[in-house]
Amino acid sequence: MLICRTINEIREFVRQVRERGRTIGLVPTMGYFHEGHLSLMREAKKACAAAVVSIFVNPLQFGPQEDFHQYPRDFERDRKMAEETGVDAIFYPSVEEMYPAGFSTHVEVGGLTECLCGLSRPGHFRGVATVVAKLLNIVLPDKAFFGWKDAQQALVIRRMVRDLNMPVEIVTVPVVREPDGLAMSSRNVYLDPRERTAARVLFRSLQIAERAAAGGERDVARLQKAVRQEIASEPLVQIEYVEIRALPGLEPISRLQGPALLALAVRIGKTRLIDNTVLNPEGDQLAFDHV
Ligand code: PAJ
Repeated sequence: MLICRTINEIREFVRQVRERGRTIGLVPTMGYFHEGHLSLMREAKKACAAAVVSIFVNPLQFGPQEDFHQYPRDFERDRKMAEETGVDAIFYPSVEEMYPAGFSTHVEVGGLTECLCGLSRPGHFRGVATVVAKLLNIVLPDKAFFGWKDAQQALVIRRMVRDLNMPVEIVTVPVVREPDGLAMSSRNVYLDPRERTAARVLFRSLQIAERAAAGGERDVARLQKAVRQEIASEPLVQIEYVEIRALPGLEPISRLQGPALLALAVRIGKTRLIDNTVLNPEGDQLAFDHV
């Protein structure tokens, strides 16, 4: 497995793969791998001849009060895990390599970013879209892989690629969960044992809404209320938002008609966690193309 610290090095690797007529899959990450990341790498390996993983904790997508400096990093551990998963190359640039002095161009995706995490994290999606546009331009993959754990992010990237005619296919991969239902996240390491137990309420609350929707409940306000009530039963968990919006445009809705995203963000102590599920009144989860 090749490790590239510079844009020139990864471009040379990509050139050689292309010369042999092979396809490339890119998995953008911020590192500190867990099974969610590994499932993206496996999908990339399955779908493409060569899998490239980028590891870059992107300062542009963190707010001034957020956890950029505390964000967990362990390159040696990530390197081993990627290698065992069959990754062909890691792109591991420095901040200076990605944002040299004078860097001043940003990608702003409208509409989709003006709700949910876009409201609670101003500038976040601008940072994400900018770094992903750069990574796509650097690696020029045939396909790029994103987790449905960050559903709004996946929708924003899909929109950017469509709007800017980027020649890449965006593939989304389902949420990977711990055995008790907590969505895997690099940030779960911030939770102390009591907070970790309390965090189970997120998946429980999503399941309550899934069951209600499967049982015929179509009223969005009532579904959101049921989720909020369940979360409120855990005093350690503070709700940032619980919202149901239409897919794929994230428009507000009052009744479930087509596929909808139930998304939530909470704080547990100092840790911010997000989770989501797709509610589909037709009952056919597979109808939506993230799976
Ligand atoms: P990061 O949080 O490291 O996540 C990298 C990729 O792994 C994202 O596509 C994310 O959705 C996916 N992922 C994380 N947890 C997952 C889980 N439990 N199940 C399935 N997929 C999961 O997301 C980012 O980094 C950054 O914003 C990035 C896209 C790299 C841009 O900087």
